[in-house]
Amino acid sequence: MCGIVGAVGINNPRDYALKGLKMLEYRGYDSAGVGFLDQGIKIYKDVGSPEHLGDILPTEIKTDTIIGHTRWATHGMPSKENSHPHISAQRKIALVHNGVIENAHDIKVFLKEKGYSFYSKTDTELVVNLLEYYYFEYKDMIQALIKVRSILDGSYALVIVSEDHPGTLFMLKKGSPLLIGKGNGFNLVASDASPMINFTNEFVDLDDYDFGYINKDEIRIFDKDSKEVNKPIIHKDVELISHDLKGYPHYMLKEIEEIDEVVKRLVSNYYQDNKYIFDDNLIKDLKESDHIMFLGCGTSYHASLVGGRLFENINNISTSKYIASEWAFHPTFPGQKPFVILISQSGETADLIHCMNVIKEKKIRSLLITNTPGCTLSKGVTYTLQLYAGVEISVASTKAYAAQVALLALLAGAINKDPKIVEDLKGTVKVIENIQKTLKEPIAQIAEEIKDNEHVFFLGRSFDYFLSLEASLKLKEISYIHSEAYPGGELKHGPIALIKEGLPVIVFITDPITASSMRSNIEEVKSRGAKVYVISTKDLAIPKDTLIVENYPYYLSSVAISSIAFYLAYYVSLKKGYNVDKPHNLAKSVTVE
Ligand code: M6R
Repeated sequence: MCGIVGAVGINNPRDYALKGLKMLEYRGYDSAGVGFLDQGIKIYKDVGSPEHLGDILPTEIKTDTIIGHTRWATHGMPSKENSHPHISAQRKIALVHNGVIENAHDIKVFLKEKGYSFYSKTDTELVVNLLEYYYFEYKDMIQALIKVRSILDGSYALVIVSEDHPGTLFMLKKGSPLLIGKGNGFNLVASDASPMINFTNEFVDLDDYDFGYINKDEIRIFDKDSKEVNKPIIHKDVELISHDLKGYPHYMLKEIEEIDEVVKRLVSNYYQDNKYIFDDNLIKDLKESDHIMFLGCGTSYHASLVGGRLFENINNISTSKYIASEWAFHPTFPGQKPFVILISQSGETADLIHCMNVIKEKKIRSLLITNTPGCTLSKGVTYTLQLYAGVEISVASTKAYAAQVALLALLAGAINKDPKIVEDLKGTVKVIENIQKTLKEPIAQIAEEIKDNEHVFFLGRSFDYFLSLEASLKLKEISYIHSEAYPGGELKHGPIALIKEGLPVIVFITDPITASSMRSNIEEVKSRGAKVYVISTKDLAIPKDTLIVENYPYYLSSVAISSIAFYLAYYVSLKKGYNVDKPHNLAKSVTVE
């Protein structure tokens, strides 16, 4: 995780670093820091989000070379000492780091033997000292970088200032993203384009093992063979990475309320003139494969559960769905001709990058479904499909989930050339809009009733069960209430032991095939004292149900009514006074395994 910014030659480096780090808070926000050259290396850092940095940084900074960092702790708890930038023993070099050094222990032993001691618990402090050690040995930063690269295991995006090189930022990258922003009389670097987009729309994306430097007039990059390369310039769109709250109090609320637009946009991007618009080769590969594997983490894994069931039901293709971090270390490839679908909103999730490397090595064809053009994962797969959901800033994923499921449904439709799926998806837009218009108050009322409970249960069957899993994850993520999701039929096989007087049980009933079984499950928990809230579709509803929504095809629950689950988590978190968009211990982009 962690977010990085750097600049040379920019007019107001303080402002760039502070605003830039704020943009990157989604990558971590437990501590933050800035380092710059001004008669030696100066460092200001502390626990807390980048906002707090403004209080400790001098109002005027005289420098043209600055680096900054917002952290999600891996090695060492959130503390001032463990915050970045880290500075070398002789104060020659300071750097910021995104990633995890896997051979940190060996490096520490090596440096200790050379007489180094350390002020922090981080792997990053080891890297900066290793670099300084070889800089002293070679008297050349490029040679030192090549040597350090040959030693480091793990993932790293490093941006480096050196006292001996004013007006220059060095960098080295593997596994974690790093993007250079090309300016006129200045150059920038950051973990993604958002901090730089107000200054330039021209970017250079670094590949793994690339290293190099920028000064105000030059960008010089060397590849894995240490040969200088001319990287292509990529153009990025301001709109797509806008951080404008558009009048909403929180990004999460804004993003929930964008779901209808996201679905419309997806349909119009992937279905035009009565035809699905997907790469013919992708559809051919999907049709020819005898087994489709889905990989994802968290919310994206929940979307893969829906996708897998859709492909089984609609396309009659056998599928398996795996949590990426589980599959990565014990990979299996069912079938004779497997095809892999990786799902990742950010496209930067380390667990999936691990999977992608395994898949690539086995030369298995693959598709990435992502919301992030040009992301790391897209560089290793055969095909990429964009969600076009617009940047999702709240740590709790909402619109991206609905988009992932909608896109998987479109893909299932495209395989069968079945236009009905498009019509069904279009139909969900009205349901979503109605929820926005009429159900926020009643959902806030449920939130009020459940907010002080320690435990909550969600129940559903089939597609409603998949949605229950997502509803439960969302609630625990931002309200810190322990919650469980179970298939209605599984309850009596164990978890019913936990049902007690007053325990909130939230039930989704939108599937005509399982509706009556779910009603029986409700009776089972009610008779043990549970306080049941039923969310049902009009045709399956009974008058006492808590929320009744317009009818829609039951296989689209995660598109049509996921906003109910999201609003519920949102209002509980809000009523408990928590930071809705930045829950503790989490980060938006999970770039460590
Ligand atoms: O970027 P990804 O879709 O790969 O992220 C996967 C999970 O980390 C993510 O969905 C996480 O579970 C969210 N915080 C859920 O709201």
